[in-house]
Amino acid sequence: TAGRLTMELTVLLFLLPAFTLTVQDSVNLEVSPEIFAECGKPVSLHCNSSSPQHGLSVKYMEWSHGNMSLCSVDSEKTITKLQRHYESDFDCKYEDGRLSLVFERMLPLQSGQYRCKLRSNKGVATEYTKVQLQEFCGNVEAVLRSDGPSCIFNHVYPDGDVHWFHDSRNVSDGSVIQHTAKSIDKHGWMIIQSWLTLNGTSERSSHKPYNCSLKSSASGKYIASTLVQKHERRAV
Ligand SMILES: *[C@@H]1O[C@H](CO)[C@@H](O)[C@H](O)[C@H]1NC(C)=O
Ligand SMILES: *[C@@H]1O[C@H](CO)[C@@H](O)[C@H](O)[C@H]1NC(C)=O
Ligand SMILES: *[C@@H]1O[C@H](CO)[C@@H](O)[C@H](O)[C@H]1NC(C)=O
Ligand SMILES: *[C@@H]1O[C@H](CO)[C@@H](O)[C@H](O)[C@H]1NC(C)=O
Ligand SMILES: *[C@@H]1O[C@H](CO)[C@@H](O)[C@H](O)[C@H]1NC(C)=O
Repeated sequence: TAGRLTMELTVLLFLLPAFTLTVQDSVNLEVSPEIFAECGKPVSLHCNSSSPQHGLSVKYMEWSHGNMSLCSVDSEKTITKLQRHYESDFDCKYEDGRLSLVFERMLPLQSGQYRCKLRSNKGVATEYTKVQLQEFCGNVEAVLRSDGPSCIFNHVYPDGDVHWFHDSRNVSDGSVIQHTAKSIDKHGWMIIQSWLTLNGTSERSSHKPYNCSLKSSASGKYIASTLVQKHERRAV
């Protein structure tokens, strides 16, 4: 039985980091501590209440984001949902002590920490879920301007740096004049535009494409890139 106990403990320890468990009085609240939201995909946040004792009766349960209550349920199982504020629609469901928020898609303004709160006949509990958003959910536009190549990254989150490469040389080291403009759209996505001012004739006359790459400020990785080609100009 010692072997079995060890095995069970191993299984328990293995499972433990997956969930955060709160035991206050005798009510448990289970949430996923962290959720990664992929571009354009639905995201579900579950808050599961249970009690080791019989007869758990939920008096109030709520999901909130910042200081805003998004969805709550009372002892009559009546759901109250926040209607305004969010651009992206979300659903609110309650079943068997489980309150779920389902977003059709996540926007930057909706990422971050969510709180689930419970009041019941067995006590109270609070747990948190952090929703992390994919760093780039858009497209890259490449344009060749008269004074040099230009590129625009849409739907960047939270931030990034643009580096240019030419003929396998990193030209963002100051050898070429680089300009960058950043703005935030109404959903919280960052739009980053970068362009080079080619001064020398050798640079201008080169037929090798320019590689415009976006490096995420969060992960430090290159997350998107495009080539700006000379012959693409005829398409404009
Ligand atoms: C909550 O319960 C549902 C249904 O049993 C389950 O699919 C989900 O994984 C649970 N979530 C957590 C965080 O325990
Ligand atoms: C919620 O927080 C925001 C920003 O911190 C603030 O502008 C707003 O007034 C707050 N709303 C309530 C209802 O407290
Ligand atoms: C390119 O140069 C920039 C600026 O010096 C630097 O931050 C970046 O890490 C370089 N990237 C690569 C892949 O060498
Ligand atoms: C062209 O490049 C030279 C040296 O690289 C610099 O001194 C000059 O200011 C540049 N001219 C313009 C218009 O950017
Ligand atoms: C551009 O350069 C980056 C960094 O060297 C590389 O990761 C990426 O694949 C290149 N992109 C294209 C479209 O060639």
